[in-house]
Amino acid sequence: MKTRSLQAACLVLAILLIFPTMTSAQELKPVQLLEPQMDSGRPLMQVLKDRRSSRAFSTEKLPMQVLSNMLWAAFGVNRPDSGKRTAPSASNRQEIDIYVATADGLYLYDAKAHALEPVLAEDIRAVTGRQPFVQEAPVNLIYVADFSRMGKATDDKKVFYSAADTGFISQNVYLYCASEGLATVVRGLIDKPALTKVMKLRPDQRVILAQSVGYPKQ
Ligand SMILES: Cc1cc2nc3c(=O)[nH]c(=O)nc-3n(C[C@H](O)[C@H](O)[C@H](O)COP(=O)(O)O)c2cc1C
Repeated sequence: MKTRSLQAACLVLAILLIFPTMTSAQELKPVQLLEPQMDSGRPLMQVLKDRRSSRAFSTEKLPMQVLSNMLWAAFGVNRPDSGKRTAPSASNRQEIDIYVATADGLYLYDAKAHALEPVLAEDIRAVTGRQPFVQEAPVNLIYVADFSRMGKATDDKKVFYSAADTGFISQNVYLYCASEGLATVVRGLIDKPALTKVMKLRPDQRVILAQSVGYPKQ
């Protein structure tokens, strides 16, 4: 009898431990982003004049239209016929994925669908960098190279090209932010093993850089 009660208690405990994770994972839904506004933005020369790194963020969330525009500017599809993107990539490998860490959870930007795919129903912003402001910025982009998309190049070349390709994407984000009066900073100060583990990345996926985005702290 006692064994049965113990078994039942263990079962209840297991369900209680597992169920919240399942529920919250189910709660994170795919997000269809809004059409990017092609007629928005300030003249390029003024934007270049204002581009800078900022490290003080308001906790205010980004409106959906701003997030949609920003991700399209970062690495969206700008030539649907060929599937080519707003940033160049070595041999058009398009090996950089943009993960989007918000208070709601972690998403993957699907450029073709211009949508966010749910990855984790957890707020991992604090793990995306070693600086305290990362947990306050409403959005932290994580640039992850998928080496399996880079053909037979040596690892040295994969490291070099994926770093260069990330730079172009990051600069697109910088320019969009300068145009819209948003604060941003690209970041290499990351505990990469910890972030890789939390994101449950495969061995051929490498965290390259992260970038915080939000409204400037007043
Ligand atoms: C590859 C790279 C890594 C960087 N890593 C960090 C970082 O971890 N933390 C940070 O606060 N700034 C980081 N920065 C931002 C630089 O500190 C910043 O670009 C530099 O001080 C020049 O300032 P500016 O961007 O306003 O011109 C990084 C910049 C680059 C290009």
